[in-house]
Amino acid sequence: MNNPFARGSGRPATRRRPRAALVSATVGLALVAASVVVASSASAATTLGASAAESGRYFGTAVAANKLSDSTYVGILNREFNSVTAENEMKIDALEPQQNQFTYTNADRIVNHALSRGWKVRGHTLAWHSQQPEWMRNMSGTALRNAMLNHVTRVATYYRGKIDSWDVVNEAFDDGNNGARRDSNLQRTGNDWIEAAFRAARAADPGAKLCYNDYNTDNWTWAKTQAVYRMVQDFKQRGVPIDCVGFQSHFNAQSAYNSNYRTTLSSFAALGVDVQITELDIEGSGTTQANTYRSVVNDCLAVPRCNGITVWGIRDSDSWRSYGTPLLFDNNGNKKPAYDATLQALNAGGTTPPPTTPPPTTPPPTTPPPTTPPPTTPPPTTPPPGGAGCTASVSLNQWNGGFVATVRVTAGSTRLNGWSVNLSLPGGATVTNTWNAQATGSSGSVSFRNVSYNGTVNAGTSTEFGFQGTGTGPSGTPTCTGS
Ligand code: G3I
Repeated sequence: MNNPFARGSGRPATRRRPRAALVSATVGLALVAASVVVASSASAATTLGASAAESGRYFGTAVAANKLSDSTYVGILNREFNSVTAENEMKIDALEPQQNQFTYTNADRIVNHALSRGWKVRGHTLAWHSQQPEWMRNMSGTALRNAMLNHVTRVATYYRGKIDSWDVVNEAFDDGNNGARRDSNLQRTGNDWIEAAFRAARAADPGAKLCYNDYNTDNWTWAKTQAVYRMVQDFKQRGVPIDCVGFQSHFNAQSAYNSNYRTTLSSFAALGVDVQITELDIEGSGTTQANTYRSVVNDCLAVPRCNGITVWGIRDSDSWRSYGTPLLFDNNGNKKPAYDATLQALNAGGTTPPPTTPPPTTPPPTTPPPTTPPPTTPPPTTPPPGGAGCTASVSLNQWNGGFVATVRVTAGSTRLNGWSVNLSLPGGATVTNTWNAQATGSSGSVSFRNVSYNGTVNAGTSTEFGFQGTGTGPSGTPTCTGS
């Protein structure tokens, strides 16, 4: 199960490093070997990609096609990284805007930029409840299942041989404590939609690693993590073709890095899949942020089947969460302390060649792992009147026929223990998906309340949730009630 050369591991993350090979060639000559070590440490890699490559790993970034004309951006991209993920250009709405009409121009710019330099490409993403084109959002049942499988097949066939790892299915699990699948039009086609997508992807591109990718699956104790673990375990037992699990790893105060992250990575790896950190960003600044980046890198390096790290953008200003300054380069493209810590960790981790046959770092569980203890107190359903103060603001991405709203909830001068936000949708608008909150109602007056992990918001700090909808998004200022 843990053979690093088994299908799905591709080339082993644990292959011997070039430096280690040099040492082997001089085996028996201790003094010579010692001098090689000195020479090697004196020539530590100076870029993220080069350093990661020394242990057979990649270091990638999300890339936006429209930034490939920005010379600062491209300069850093070409210097530091050796893997890319299209930030939006390979999503369903981008590639199949009209049913059966595929548009690869922007995606190809990114793919070709990478392949012409010998880099890897992570494909993101073949099947997802979000960023569906309008024609797909309006489908259901067998027609939708067939359209989804057609998309998977056509896109994976088009890119056959070019993609290192595909995020075949993205974000299919619910954010609550129930370990359930996320409700979506795809989920409503039947619980087997995920494995159907994986089988179609394997048939279309047998050489690509096939990943399940999700967020809030980094903390080993969370119900969502355990639910995904059980699905992967089940897929491996039943022979569903899955090769890897992507951990998005968007860390902030509400979804904080936890030292059990290493257990998460090693436990999934012990199921016989590669693990990849796919969308890393860590809100914060300075030493604190740098130390968290260092911990994440160390955790990956400690798990032989953790074969790559991708950050979700280059400069802070490129981030989907730019206000949280979560990336490795500042707005001007200067290296941040987080960059230095990441490179140091990659270089330090590389001084010891990983074992050629990686043992699982966590013994494979014989029974399903412990489920997350349910919260002792359910999240408040109705904040008491006169509770703690909060404000909410909406940022809207609107397109013809639909929208994605991101709502920022900010605590006043006292800590919130729970919150609820009310807003009005214009006639004809309907909420179709919500994340990081629980919605009541889907049209007209809609309210959202915190879920178990983001009810606590310290004074003056913020948390975010979002929802997607059809029609026109909300325009007024939402009301926020805290408890
Ligand atoms: O490019 C258009 C622009 O022309 C238009 O004027 C504008 C109007 O709103 O929208 C622009 O497109 C936006 C696009 O980002 C590029 O900025 C979309 O509306 C917006 O929805 C899109 O957001 C992306 C988000 O996924 C959508 O779900 C983010 O860039 C992207 O970083 C984010 O990435 C996701 C991963 O795919 C999955 N995991 C979570 C991660 C962060 O949300």
